[in-house]
Formats: sequence, C-alpha cells, structure tokens
Amino acid sequence: MKRIVIVNGPNLNLLGKREPKIYGTRSLADLVKTVRAKARALGVTVSVFQSNHEGEIIDFLHKEAPGALGIVINPGALSHYSLALYDCLQALDVPTVEVHLSNIHAREEFRSKSVTARAAKGVITGLGFEGYGLAMEFLNKQ
Ligand code: DQA
Repeated sequence: MKRIVIVNGPNLNLLGKREPKIYGTRSLADLVKTVRAKARALGVTVSVFQSNHEGEIIDFLHKEAPGALGIVINPGALSHYSLALYDCLQALDVPTVEVHLSNIHAREEFRSKSVTARAAKGVITGLGFEGYGLAMEFLNKQ
C-alpha cells in the first residue's frame, strides 16, 4: 500500500501548550488524528513520528522513508540549522514537502532561512494543520 512518512521535530510534542497564539490550541495528538483521517480519505497509510532529537529523526527516516511515496516533515528549529537533516533528505531522494504551522517569513529574521527546505520539492508555511493535508495530497499525486 502507498505510504507517506510524517515527521515532526523538536518541541512539536508541546503543541497546544506552546505559544498558543502562534501554534494554536490543538495538540500533537489532534494533529496525528487529522493526518490519519486525511490518509484514510486518500487511501494511503502513514508512518508518523515526533522526536526532540536530530539523530532519532535521521534514524527514523533512514528506516521508514525508503519505498515511501513521500515525506511530510516539520523539522521545527532544525530547519534553520541542521545540515545533517538536509544531507539525510538529499540522500534518501524521496519526494519531500517541508511544512511549518506558522509563517516562518512573518516572524523573527532567523526563521525565514530554512537549510532543509533546499532538499524539499516545496514548502508550505503558515497554514497550520491544513498544510500537512495539502502536502499529503500533493505527494499522493506524484
Ligand atoms: C515551526 C517554525 C520553527 O521556526 C520553529 O522552530 C518550530 C515550529 C512551525 O511549525 O511553524 O519549532 O517549524
């Protein structure tokens, strides 16, 4: 069956409690529910993962991404500096959409630069949970 890998990086386990004015009041569990419902609607399966640790995310991607239809990744702050995650996404060569809940271009200057985005087919930023669903739709058409 067609499978999409969904990864959330550091601090996204705090969704709902963390800066709710920016990230909203819904939790990571709510996000996972939304993503699973979307997967059912699209007729795909999902491998969902969140970690606060760069290496764990990379290990997960090495294991789960090969053979997947695509990767939807919100690397959190790793977006802004993790060359290891960038290298990982480049090496895997699986179509990737980078998602950010907030609009990284409308915030602090340091957030507008994503080093991982260069390894992605595209970036969806600022559309909240909806960004994940749109990314999944896109990957399902590839
Ligand atoms: C984020 C934006 C990042 O700048 C931040 O470090 C996050 C969340 C977002 O989803 O808007 O952790 O990726």
